[in-house]
Amino acid sequence: MARILITGASGLLGLNLVQETMNEHDVHVVDRSKLDNAPFKILKTDLLNAGALEFVLDSAKPDWLINCAALADLDVCEDNPLLARRLNTELPAQMARACKDRGISFVHISTDAVFDGEKDGFYTEEDTPNPLGVYPQTKFNGEQTVLSENPKAIVARVNFYGWSLSGKRSLAEFFYENLTHQKSISGFTDVKFCPMLVNDTARLLIKMLNKHLSGLYHVVGSQAMSKYQFGVEIARKFGLKESVISPKSIKTSSLTARRSHNLCLSTQKLSTALGESLPQFSTGLQEFYTQLQMGYPQKIRSYQLLR
Ligand SMILES: NC(=O)c1ccc[n+]([C@@H]2O[C@H](COP(=O)([O-])OP(=O)(O)OC[C@H]3O[C@@H](n4cnc5c(N)ncnc54)[C@H](OP(=O)(O)O)[C@@H]3O)[C@@H](O)[C@H]2O)c1
Repeated sequence: MARILITGASGLLGLNLVQETMNEHDVHVVDRSKLDNAPFKILKTDLLNAGALEFVLDSAKPDWLINCAALADLDVCEDNPLLARRLNTELPAQMARACKDRGISFVHISTDAVFDGEKDGFYTEEDTPNPLGVYPQTKFNGEQTVLSENPKAIVARVNFYGWSLSGKRSLAEFFYENLTHQKSISGFTDVKFCPMLVNDTARLLIKMLNKHLSGLYHVVGSQAMSKYQFGVEIARKFGLKESVISPKSIKTSSLTARRSHNLCLSTQKLSTALGESLPQFSTGLQEFYTQLQMGYPQKIRSYQLLR
């Protein structure tokens, strides 16, 4: 059993990571204002406050710190570049230093969006990023400062879907909600990615820590597909009408931040390091479906602070 400190615990990854670890490990989380009444220990603080990081590390005294806190909305990052830099670059660098000084194993979460999408096929960890906007630039800078401050850290570039606290945080929830209410929506046919069920991402991060890995790894699904195709897969799995999803090009969208159209990452380095194949897309989607039948979204949402 390890003592784990998880930041960003109200987020899509953070909350599902807590679910995957709390039965086997001693889990402490950092939350600003959203969680309450949960079967894990909650440290209430804003990590950008002076001394907050030192306070949580010295209170929880973790073996592992997994940093899921971020400013992860691309359009909000474009409008708030200073805040994006503080959360996505400076805070992770501070964490990397503090963990090195205290002998804590550190995992920092980055993104598949660091590449410009110009490559044909899957990006490897050896490929050079070329971020297209504030979010990917601040995340890429975060990767670099973390690994230069603390070469023993793990930096994981991810892409995931799953059930979230708000019910609105993941693309899968967006498709599920609109399909259920038969609302017409569109899906990009010219943006390709490698979605992974967030619970699979969480389990892989724990395996990486147990194996004492370090450095940069791609931790995404092994199957590439367009965002439109992803919506269709969800419709089919839940027995919903896929015709409500219209195929659309990202070139005609009104999104603020520029987006890469190829987010496909190779996971060869990770599967070799772990000595196993990564989970299949179909297995993850089946689990996502079963979670709904078993009341998993309601369970994680019950930790929400009611105002
Ligand atoms: N979602 C994806 O598919 C995806 C794809 C690529 C990379 N990623 C990366 O994966 C990681 C987790 O993403 P996510 O989707 O789980 O993000 P998320 O749902 O937006 O959660 C972000 C978390 O950070 C917390 N946070 C923000 N500012 C904070 C502060 N000043 N002090 C303390 N906590 C703060 C938020 O707390 P509040 O709730 O209080 O704001 C929230 O819990 C991020 O590094 C993101 O860049 C995600």
